[in-house]
Amino acid sequence: MAHPEIHPDRVPRHVAIIMDGNGRWAVERGLERNAGHREGIESVRAVIRACRDYGVEILTLYAFSIENWNRPRGEVSELMRLLEEYLETEIDEVMEHGARVRTIGRIDRLPPSTRRAVEGAIRRTADNTGMQLVFALSYGGRAEIVDAARRLARDAELGKIDPEGLDEKAFAAYLYAPDLPDPDLLIRTGAEQRVSNFLLWQIAYTELHLSDRMWPEFRRAEFEAAILDYQRRERRFGLTSEQVRQGDRSREKRTTR
Ligand code: IPE
Ligand code: IPE
Ligand code: MG
Repeated sequence: MAHPEIHPDRVPRHVAIIMDGNGRWAVERGLERNAGHREGIESVRAVIRACRDYGVEILTLYAFSIENWNRPRGEVSELMRLLEEYLETEIDEVMEHGARVRTIGRIDRLPPSTRRAVEGAIRRTADNTGMQLVFALSYGGRAEIVDAARRLARDAELGKIDPEGLDEKAFAAYLYAPDLPDPDLLIRTGAEQRVSNFLLWQIAYTELHLSDRMWPEFRRAEFEAAILDYQRRERRFGLTSEQVRQGDRSREKRTTR
């Protein structure tokens, strides 16, 4: 059932989520942190379903940051194990959605079995043409920019690009997933107000929705609330409100003609 107040024509095309708060959710309930990660998978499932229902084209999920490698070894290996389990058990539903799995991040650092699971999911879903499901794994926004700069410098050395001609569009072509549009909406759960090294380049003009809910508590209703919040915003991109409204009017004229 679609939420009656969500405007189907103004659903964000690309939603990115910092899924934070699993550990606190568990500890508050006297459980181990890992139980929170496990419960968080249920939220991933719920949010993917909601994205499919509302026609979100791209969902980028921050599943493991480059800084997360510094967590206790046991937690890191449990997270990797859960990721493998998720990719193996959920892939059928992902296929049913017609979704295509992709990743961004330094995947080469993942343990071999996790990497295999990730690559298997990518391969199996490669021909799907529905929504794109992008997992940020071993991902850091600064690392992404450095990786881009490194490849760009190499191309400059080879004479493939002219540094003088470099602009934002040409630079962005070196990022991990250059074909994706920037996120329209970034959701962060877990009651923190920071970006934690996520998509630094891409969120220049993204709308932010900061939720006090812990990730395991973030389900369809919370996702719908985030979409409604987004739909109340006016995206000005540096213009005045008057310019934006004028733009809307001229677009309307063009489409009704
Ligand atoms: C997010 O939950 C999951 C990952 C970072 C992998 P946390 O594990 O960060 O949970 P809190 O923030 O400690 O509650
Ligand atoms: C951000 O959560 C990373 C992911 C959700 C994967 P963290 O829990 O690692 O972020 P900080 O450390 O609170 O900034
Ligand atoms: Mg956290």
